[in-house]
Amino acid sequence: MSNKLTRRMFLGTVGATAAAAATANDVSAASDKKPSEKILIAGVSCSPRKGKTTATAVKAALDAAEQVDPRIEIEMIDLGGLEIAGWSGGAKPDKSQQINDDFKPILTTLRNPSLGGLIIGSPVYFRTMSALCKVFLERCAVLRKPELLLADKPVGALAVGSFRNGGQELAIEHIQTVMLCHEMMIVGGKPKAHQGATLWNFANDDITKDELGMDTARKLGIRVAEAAIRLDEK
Ligand SMILES: Cc1cc2nc3c(=O)[nH]c(=O)nc-3n(C[C@H](O)[C@H](O)[C@H](O)COP(=O)(O)O)c2cc1C
Repeated sequence: MSNKLTRRMFLGTVGATAAAAATANDVSAASDKKPSEKILIAGVSCSPRKGKTTATAVKAALDAAEQVDPRIEIEMIDLGGLEIAGWSGGAKPDKSQQINDDFKPILTTLRNPSLGGLIIGSPVYFRTMSALCKVFLERCAVLRKPELLLADKPVGALAVGSFRNGGQELAIEHIQTVMLCHEMMIVGGKPKAHQGATLWNFANDDITKDELGMDTARKLGIRVAEAAIRLDEK
């Protein structure tokens, strides 16, 4: 981040009246920012089953994101098989960090200064996200303090269910609601995937057979990448 006053820092330090008066200066200062050389889009698959339908869909979204601009780099995080405990130890975020489980290396990616956007995918479990997804999101609470590290970055969500209308959109909405607590910018996909990517596992775990669903995954990836680039220029 440049040493210029960002809109977030600016609004945090002065009152609303002063902010309104100086908005023009603020915006012109921000527009001088040089584009980042590297913009990382991370994709998180929150199925306990490593490499299965959710992971395949998240990877498709990331691959599509990578095509948007040469500056985009992607990183896949498959939570399948990892041991991650839910939030515990009271209200202090640093307590959670002391848990010695598989979340620690994931934090490194999420704290990467190049991180420009996130794609979060979950299998639909009983019309909402998986427990693993919830646990992952709870542990991400450490990213809210001391400052909102994920704020103003785009996040897109994806859900895979074995029923056509199995609750994919509900699971997506639940993930999006959590990420609002990080002040992330919620994005959907390109046309026809406005809520996010919704996939239907009807062919014995070969999710590529759901061409329409895979298309929504790619459109989600493209939208997250495009938004990341636009926000990087601000
Ligand atoms: C406990 C459990 C609950 C599930 N509930 C739903 C559901 O409510 N709706 C649905 O469409 N599929 C449901 N499924 C099916 C999974 O969402 C589906 O098989 C998905 O493709 C699994 O993702 P994965 O291949 O990445 O593990 C459920 C599966 C499990 C194990």
